[in-house]
Amino acid sequence: EILVFFLFFNFQKLPSVADAADKLWEHWQQNPLRVAGSLPVKLLGVWWMRSSPADEICLTFEGDTFDPQTRQLTSDFMQECTWTFGAHTVGYLSYVLLLLCGRSCLVYRFNETYAHASIKLYIWWVVPIPDCILKAELTQEDNVGDQFARRTWLFGQLHLYRCYTLRKVIDKSGNKVAVDFQQMESAEAERGRSGVQGIPRRSCTLWSPKATQVSSEKQPLTSGSA
Ligand SMILES: *[C@@H]1O[C@H](CO)[C@@H](O)[C@H](O)[C@H]1NC(C)=O
Repeated sequence: EILVFFLFFNFQKLPSVADAADKLWEHWQQNPLRVAGSLPVKLLGVWWMRSSPADEICLTFEGDTFDPQTRQLTSDFMQECTWTFGAHTVGYLSYVLLLLCGRSCLVYRFNETYAHASIKLYIWWVVPIPDCILKAELTQEDNVGDQFARRTWLFGQLHLYRCYTLRKVIDKSGNKVAVDFQQMESAEAERGRSGVQGIPRRSCTLWSPKATQVSSEKQPLTSGSA
């Protein structure tokens, strides 16, 4: 089956970091593409990419696809409402860099307790980047699963620009994890003030390209049609 992808890159500028987190949550709740209920609840919700040197703010796994048999979570770069960037130059550059990667994905392979995942990048979904070039992992750091460490190695060296902590700020039921949510807002505002361009980080850019999938095959005829 040949698929044609039309990509519409629609930036959406949001008034605040809190709005970005809310948007990531709300977008998926009634969405038929929301990740299967089989995903362990500790992975649901919205995560702050705390202490990420890159200008990115939060992410969610809710729009990913999940296979409970293999415990494999696939995160499509082109999926909308999964990732937010800051509205600084660096945020835009990160966004452009991702666009250049094209329709790629990250595949998380979790262990039995979902406390650890190895992460592999597939360029254009088919070319796996070997571990000796790029290797990443996610490791749970607390008892409940509200915090994970994300580490990345580039050519065998820990790549600090891609190392950060994932901290849950909206839980599986949509409740804000008060302390962490406030910490996210103040920390991101602080970072904005000392930003390269000195622009307050009141707004952030929601990275929400829309990938419209058009099959080259005809739609099956609906039964009963004349
Ligand atoms: C899963 O990973 C965690 C964290 O690295 C580790 O403590 C645990 O033993 C692993 N569980 C299994 C079943 O491999």
